[in-house]
Amino acid sequence: MATPTETQQNPSSFPLQDRVAIVTGASRGIGRAIALHLASLGARLVINYSSNSAQAELVVTEINTSSSSSSTTPRAVAVQADVSDPDQVKSLFDSAEKFFNVQPHILVNSAGVLDPKYPSISNASIEDFDLTFSVNTRGAFLCLREAANRLKRGGGGRIISLSSSMVGGLKPGFGTYAASKAAVETMIKILAKELKGTGITANCVAPGPIATEMFFLGKSEDVIKKLVDECPMGRLGEVKDVAPVVGFLAGDGSEWVNGQVIRANGGYV
Ligand SMILES: NC(=O)c1ccc[n+]([C@@H]2O[C@H](COP(=O)([O-])OP(=O)(O)OC[C@H]3O[C@@H](n4cnc5c(N)ncnc54)[C@H](OP(=O)(O)O)[C@@H]3O)[C@@H](O)[C@H]2O)c1
Repeated sequence: MATPTETQQNPSSFPLQDRVAIVTGASRGIGRAIALHLASLGARLVINYSSNSAQAELVVTEINTSSSSSSTTPRAVAVQADVSDPDQVKSLFDSAEKFFNVQPHILVNSAGVLDPKYPSISNASIEDFDLTFSVNTRGAFLCLREAANRLKRGGGGRIISLSSSMVGGLKPGFGTYAASKAAVETMIKILAKELKGTGITANCVAPGPIATEMFFLGKSEDVIKKLVDECPMGRLGEVKDVAPVVGFLAGDGSEWVNGQVIRANGGYV
């Protein structure tokens, strides 16, 4: 396997050649697109999901049968783990190490939930608050902690967490969700400093509205039209608008981008 340094000296059309990336929430939506994009850059992938094993296996098959996969060794594996459970997060990293026989280089935290009732803070239930924070914030914390201890040192280590442009947009109905992601942005900025000397960078990508199941759930056509009208690009974001930004942050060229939040939203907020 090429080390990160060798890869740096030998740039190819596969800049992430043989690096191992764990992508949480990769069975669907943005996580799926990120996983496929990292695979197209040469990475080997752990496709994490919580309940949707059939969709996760489809992503694995797509990667293992793609043209960038020249070897007979599988380049992707699906691993079930609820990111809010510390034991399951630990076993997610154990599975990555065991399957690829190497320390992982990249963690992308994309697993997340959004309450489709969009409650005001005055109407939000404790159960919904707890679910949002348990997946988005506790889940991110557990994955960041595991990655900080277990990603490969010495160059090429990358941590990327999905936040949301709602942290800046602050729209009514997004109180708990935006707060859960604001906490992630804060952790990432501090983690980047704590990782001094490891060669590992930590950044957030904060999309605006992106056409996925999460986005469409609970939104009327009028609300969707209003969001499109508000966007300077005059359209909804798509997963293909986010994956290359993560691909850049995952590669060697991004080393000087550290502790940052990249808002990928077409100028929406
Ligand atoms: N879509 C947007 O407009 C938008 C905008 C800004 C930020 N984001 C953020 O981007 C990320 C991806 O969003 P998306 O739109 O792709 O969502 P999505 O289509 O609803 O997909 C969610 C993914 O997260 C996984 N997941 C949910 N709970 C989990 C848990 N406890 N443990 C492990 N995996 C879990 C799901 O797995 P299963 O398939 O097994 O359920 C699925 O793979 C989220 O963090 C979200 O907050 C999205």
